Amino acid sequence: MDLKQYLKAKRDLVDGFLYSATPAADKYPASLHGSMRYSLEAGGKRVRPVLALAAAEAVKGGDASGVPGLLAAASSLELIHTYSLIHDDLPAMDDDDLRRGKPTNHKVWGEAMAILAGDALLTHAFELLTDPAHTGGTEPRALVSIIREVAVGSGSHGMVGGQAVDIESEGEDKQVDFATLEYIHVHKTGALIRASVRVGAFAAGADAAQLAALTRYGMDVGLAFQVADDILDIEGDQAEIGKDVGSDVARGKKTYPAFVGLEESKRRARELADSAVEALSTFGPSADPLREIARYIVSRRS
Ligand code: IPE
Ligand code: IPE
Ligand code: MG
Ligand code: MG
Ligand code: MG
Repeated sequence: MDLKQYLKAKRDLVDGFLYSATPAADKYPASLHGSMRYSLEAGGKRVRPVLALAAAEAVKGGDASGVPGLLAAASSLELIHTYSLIHDDLPAMDDDDLRRGKPTNHKVWGEAMAILAGDALLTHAFELLTDPAHTGGTEPRALVSIIREVAVGSGSHGMVGGQAVDIESEGEDKQVDFATLEYIHVHKTGALIRASVRVGAFAAGADAAQLAALTRYGMDVGLAFQVADDILDIEGDQAEIGKDVGSDVARGKKTYPAFVGLEESKRRARELADSAVEALSTFGPSADPLREIARYIVSRRS
């Protein structure tokens, strides 16, 4: 399969949905909607929605385009991810100036509006998930599982929990152990990626064995994604990654390379990708996109 083509087709699908289901930039209050749209339309790889769509295909044994509510569920994860990036870049957090190749949200819209745009993107995700126009056809129990999965992956047991420990642990004067580093990575990034895969599985009606396999895949790929992100903060090209290089070292962030070095971090990322692929052994060719995405996540340059 051609992964590049696959990713582009799915990205276009998600973007089409997101842009039509999010208020126009000039809708009152235009500062808020403009700020939300600014970060959403800056692009991004859309990895989380693509993982949800690919997981549904694996469960369905192929085409999942007819799965009710799948696109809305997949896209809701991108709204939450985009909010997390806006807040992550704030002066009170990582204080970064460049994101998705553009000035960060607060640099353009001010800190107050950046905070509010993040709040509104988070809430918008649940508005879409519970809109009968988008998820009215989803089996009610599956929909509750999806909503809960998104909530748990995003909150204090998931992404926000990881962000809290990340912030608490930054700085040269802060010593943390490896278990804490792993907690940070598994939660700040792994949790939403794991949730993405599981959301696709719930929408497609996965059985218990399929869900368990996909959960393991999601956990491995989720941790691998953040290890790769840490590596790109050192070795990446600013024009390609669309954010400043070297900001982790500058802030004394707890990263994989800081703990175990670059080479061991790369080895560990590849090992996690292998383990993710292994988790899919009971799936046929319909899981090939998931397999390819696992490889892509640890070899990407952006
Ligand atoms: C960056 O996420 C922040 C992390 C959680 C590592 P992505 O690398 O998915 O960023 P975009 O969405 O493509 O901009
Ligand atoms: C961010 O981790 C994880 C989020 C929940 C946004 P990073 O702080 O490493 O992400 P980047 O490198 O700024 O994209
Ligand atoms: Mg951060
Ligand atoms: Mg950051
Ligand atoms: Mg980073």
